[in-house]
Amino acid sequence: MIRVNDNYLKLPGSYLFADIAARARAFRQTLAVDDVISLGIGDVTQPLCDAAVAAMHDAVDELSRVESFHGYGPEQGYDFLRKAIAEGDYASRGVKISPDEIFVSDGAKSDTGNIVDILGAGRVAVTDPVYPVYVDSNAMAGRAGDYTGTRWSGITYLPCKEENGFVPQLPSEKVDVVYLCFPNNPMGTVMTRGELAVWVAWAVEKNVLILYDSAYEAFITNPAVPHSIYEIEGAKRVAIEFRSYSKTAGFTGVRCGYAVIPDELTVDAGGRTVRLNELWKRRQCTKFNGASYISQRGAAAIYTEEGRRQTKSTIEYYLSNAAYLKKALGEMGLKAFGGTDAPYLWVKTPDGMPSWDFFDILLRQAHLICTPGAGFGPSGEGFVRFTAFGRRESYVEAARRLKKLII
Ligand code: MLT
Repeated sequence: MIRVNDNYLKLPGSYLFADIAARARAFRQTLAVDDVISLGIGDVTQPLCDAAVAAMHDAVDELSRVESFHGYGPEQGYDFLRKAIAEGDYASRGVKISPDEIFVSDGAKSDTGNIVDILGAGRVAVTDPVYPVYVDSNAMAGRAGDYTGTRWSGITYLPCKEENGFVPQLPSEKVDVVYLCFPNNPMGTVMTRGELAVWVAWAVEKNVLILYDSAYEAFITNPAVPHSIYEIEGAKRVAIEFRSYSKTAGFTGVRCGYAVIPDELTVDAGGRTVRLNELWKRRQCTKFNGASYISQRGAAAIYTEEGRRQTKSTIEYYLSNAAYLKKALGEMGLKAFGGTDAPYLWVKTPDGMPSWDFFDILLRQAHLICTPGAGFGPSGEGFVRFTAFGRRESYVEAARRLKKLII
């Protein structure tokens, strides 16, 4: 008899972004509307930078010749990229990470979803609202208990609300693993070095693993905000960090990212000291054949002077979209948070309107797609998320339509 993993049967109907895409498609088709502006999923609109394009062209040429063809690459990633990461993302900020502690992948979504493979039973805490991958992947692995309509019984939710500046408080109950994402998706908010240091000290004291998603670090402009959790003393003993080139360099379709699992991160497994990076290496060697040579060459080009300059200018463009929209929302009397160190705006719905209702109004009246906050967790109710990844003309048009809304 065929048995399925019945943890999947407990999951709510569909993945948040797939659900939104289906609603938008149905709206377009039913009403034959062709001017919908999507500020929902964070799909970047600026093309790959020239430095990455040239490097990928060269990589294709290499693969086209017998003498320079590459087959399977190292599961952990090519040395040229791991060295560029260790130097460009860490040493340049005074953090010592060895290339051996870096695992190149096809993106932070896969890594944050797959990491549960190497974890045993234990209580997981997430911020609320939260990027849905963390919760769904734990539910799939049977680590989330039962779904009660808005939350999972086996997960500890750490509410992030306007009252606490959208920064989570330390859990009051015992947890074993905590997911932190800063700059935050979906709220667009950040933690300062001092705030993050409190989490690291707590994790060291209580023996908690921090899964730190730093996919949006390139958007940080505030010098008080750390780019890496390893800027904080002690973090190498308790944290895994995830990074992505998707939003930084237009790699949403190319796919490339990486995880850092320091040598110092060990756990006691029945009297045996186990390095988590050994387990992850074992997992990756079995289930993953490495990110493509072409995408890794493209990613390495981002660390050249030219690549840095080009990606920086794209990020500035997205941040200026965020500033433009934030101003327009403010002029309408809507309160928007985030957007200065992150590509997301977290917007309070008018008069506490439920977020899916506001989503519907925006879609029907203004043909605008956002992401309802409730889809990110119970504390997301009463908010919607806008992304800053569109083209400028979309924001100009979105602001014009927003001003005509009848709420
Ligand atoms: C988002 O819109 O939250 C992200 O683009 C989704 C993702 O990175 O998977």
